[in-house]
Amino acid sequence: MLKTVIWCVLFTEVAKTQGQSMQDEYKLHLDLLVHSNYSKHIRPYITQSEVTVVNVTFDLISIRELDEIIGKLSVVGILRMVWLDPRLTWDNTMYGNASYTSIDMQEVWKPSLIIVPPADVISAVGFDQFHYPVFVSSNGTVAWAPGDVMTTSCTINIAYYPFDTQICQLKFLYWGFFKFELILRAVETEISTRMFVTHGEWELINAYASEQLLEGVYPVYFVVLELRRRPTFVIVNIVMPILLMGALNILVFILPSESGERVSFSITVLLALAVFLTVVGDNMPKTSEPMPTISYFLLTNLVLSSVIMVLTILNLSLYHRSDLDQVPVWLTKLVFMLNCKCTKHTKVEDIETTTTCTVDDVTSEPSLPQEKALPVMEKKWVASELNTESKITWQQTSKTLDKVFGFLASISLFLSAAVFFILVLTKSVPGAD
Ligand SMILES: *[C@@H]1O[C@H](CO)[C@@H](O)[C@H](O)[C@H]1NC(C)=O
Ligand SMILES: *[C@@H]1O[C@H](CO)[C@@H](O)[C@H](O)[C@H]1NC(C)=O
Ligand SMILES: *[C@@H]1O[C@H](CO)[C@@H](O)[C@H](O)[C@H]1NC(C)=O
Ligand SMILES: *[C@@H]1O[C@H](CO)[C@@H](O)[C@H](O)[C@H]1NC(C)=O
Repeated sequence: MLKTVIWCVLFTEVAKTQGQSMQDEYKLHLDLLVHSNYSKHIRPYITQSEVTVVNVTFDLISIRELDEIIGKLSVVGILRMVWLDPRLTWDNTMYGNASYTSIDMQEVWKPSLIIVPPADVISAVGFDQFHYPVFVSSNGTVAWAPGDVMTTSCTINIAYYPFDTQICQLKFLYWGFFKFELILRAVETEISTRMFVTHGEWELINAYASEQLLEGVYPVYFVVLELRRRPTFVIVNIVMPILLMGALNILVFILPSESGERVSFSITVLLALAVFLTVVGDNMPKTSEPMPTISYFLLTNLVLSSVIMVLTILNLSLYHRSDLDQVPVWLTKLVFMLNCKCTKHTKVEDIETTTTCTVDDVTSEPSLPQEKALPVMEKKWVASELNTESKITWQQTSKTLDKVFGFLASISLFLSAAVFFILVLTKSVPGAD
């Protein structure tokens, strides 16, 4: 199939002029390669000073993998090369009008391009594969199109995982030859993707080819691939469950202290989160340079869960404290203040701006908006006005603190998610580029 495609790609226009017999072609091969003393070790030229021009185009077939940890990109592609070999010319009429023939790649000169920087082994593209035929036209045009798995090293920036875009270059270097002997010419800046098979994780957003001189002398043909990760998998399987567990965790502040289930509830959620993170760890890029932002997000959630656990325990110990112990004055003030704040938004017509919540109002019903102290826009608590008689129970304190902690935990969870998404979506992680 692949061979047929290459055939069509290379020699669509010559396929109509064939009229030779098998004998003609045999004679042609003999004359071209044996009788002319052809050497495949000598590059094609007429005079030594002539530069061999190799026209290169690249067909991307598929992306095999992009390994974030090793920094390796593997693609399957076809490197199409066309050059002129003056030794491989013949007169059509002498060989039954044969205008082209195909020769085994082992028997003719062909450019050996290696990929730099190589990811594992250095080998010339197409050389160690099965025998790709080389197509030769009677005017000396030689075309060779080896397909191969091409692997290169690629610097991966994982900071914006899973919304990252990676740019990898496949550089084909003509090893050992200088620009005055051979040049690689990128015929088109676009690479062909008509055979491209889409990849599940990576989306090809841009691909182009160009030519270059490495260190000013070594000819290089390079292909740039811009790949964007499809983030849905990570969002659905990692981010959403983590947020869900975080939300579940906050519910502990609603769970009544009397039920005695608080600690076991928050321990369970914390454990579930820890186990989940272990599983998630396998799906995550294991790199620290730069650190993926999502790792900080996961850590934040684990820390939040632990803090919620600690707060739950501390609050529970307050709740069960004996009322013979008095609530310290500062805590009383704090509880008053927090409860008073809840009534602040009560609509009032009265213009009087500064009043103080009297202690009696609060002690009677600390958590409810007070009707009597309504003409208030802005309540100020003046410490000296606190009656020393004012008493609140530990239970009331604990319940008030529950609300505050629940509120703070929700805010933290929301913020951690918001900050994470803003950082990775706007690509503004400090020190990531
Ligand atoms: C090829 O080499 C042989 C032996 O060295 C020589 O006799 C012959 O003339 C050469 N042919 C050509 C076309 O140079
Ligand atoms: C290589 O490409 C150039 C520009 O497209 C073209 O003029 C030339 O004939 C090509 N060479 C071969 C051997 O096909
Ligand atoms: C080769 O082509 C010429 C002109 O097109 C024709 O006259 C001749 O018969 C052909 N020879 C063969 C062997 O097909
Ligand atoms: C050589 O022949 C092939 C096939 O007929 C054609 O595509 C190509 O343009 C020709 N090249 C030159 C340099 O004449």
